[in-house]
Amino acid sequence: MEYAIFGNTGEKLSRVGLGCFSMSGAYGAADDAESIATIHRAIDLGVTLLDTSASYGRGHNHQLIGKALKGGLRSKVFIHSKTGTIRADDGASVAQGSGTPDRLRQVCETSLGNLGIETLDAFCLSRVDPTVPIEETVGAMARLVEEGKTRFIALSEAAPGTLRRAVKVHPLVSLQYEYSLWTRDVESGHLAACDELGLGLMAYAPLGYGFLAGTVAGRDALEEGDTRHKFPRFSDRNAGANRERVAAIRKVADAHGATPAQVCIAWVLARGGNVFPIPGCKSRAHLEDNLKAMDVALTAEDLAALDAAFPPGAAAGDRYPPDGMARVNL
Ligand SMILES: NC(=O)c1ccc[n+]([C@@H]2O[C@H](COP(=O)([O-])OP(=O)(O)OC[C@H]3O[C@@H](n4cnc5c(N)ncnc54)[C@H](OP(=O)(O)O)[C@@H]3O)[C@@H](O)[C@H]2O)c1
Repeated sequence: MEYAIFGNTGEKLSRVGLGCFSMSGAYGAADDAESIATIHRAIDLGVTLLDTSASYGRGHNHQLIGKALKGGLRSKVFIHSKTGTIRADDGASVAQGSGTPDRLRQVCETSLGNLGIETLDAFCLSRVDPTVPIEETVGAMARLVEEGKTRFIALSEAAPGTLRRAVKVHPLVSLQYEYSLWTRDVESGHLAACDELGLGLMAYAPLGYGFLAGTVAGRDALEEGDTRHKFPRFSDRNAGANRERVAAIRKVADAHGATPAQVCIAWVLARGGNVFPIPGCKSRAHLEDNLKAMDVALTAEDLAALDAAFPPGAAAGDRYPPDGMARVNL
């Protein structure tokens, strides 16, 4: 396992983290026993960074992680936990109220209770609330640090200008943002802001929600209730064009005797030492496959071929439906 200093924590964490979203049914049914075995295997293999959220499975994800870490494993991992999104009855993401001091305190305390721990390592705002000044939101998160409920605080999907305003109130440890071959938005200013402010960049969905790993060809392959049904890039209209680009990943993978998932993660790792991919999985097989990405040394020719297949903005379709797109980069 490779380790690097994570943001301004002064602590070294594994360069590849474990995203726990799919362990709570986001992408089809999950099996708790296998999910817990996956977390244990990750720790055995040196993973020290776990990503979760209060909204994953409405508390299930936290309870699952809490169960997995019983018996002395808590101190072996850095728990990065997000506030989660507020959803309307129709499932649409709601902006209003997600960054108020009252909600942040309530979410933080509920998260600690479900995880069965005293202190989070990082408490991360999932989406900036456009109805609350970021200074007020971050001020409320800073009070949770003072009270020992979290060691560090972070933002997700925040714009570079928001990061700069936020750090004037309290230091941030990292920015979590979607970053993969087909989502390169952070290259337009977020990565530079992270460098400038000393933040780590947690690259979420490095496998394009499984699409870039080549195992999900489109909506037909998804179970009922799978979150990806509403993602435009998986639609009948867009999946064909996106699949053609995935062929370039498979070509590079074949040349290395690697899997497409490993190439996707190796590409993110090659973006810089402060970029920490957090591929999500719910099985030991996928976990072990993903961690071998650190053995894949992409050449300049590989990177050029991948760049040619995935220039910024090339993916067909937005990454989220309209309500989701309205909540990012604020
Ligand atoms: N801040 C945010 O708004 C936000 C949004 C989304 C996600 N996240 C975080 O980022 C993490 C990663 O993102 P993600 O899980 O949404 O997407 P992802 O990592 O791009 O892809 C996950 C999907 O890829 C599949 N997969 C994993 N390893 C594979 C392999 N080696 N070969 C083939 N398929 C493989 C997984 O299947 P299995 O599950 O069956 O193993 C799952 O369906 C999440 O777990 C979550 O912690 C944050």
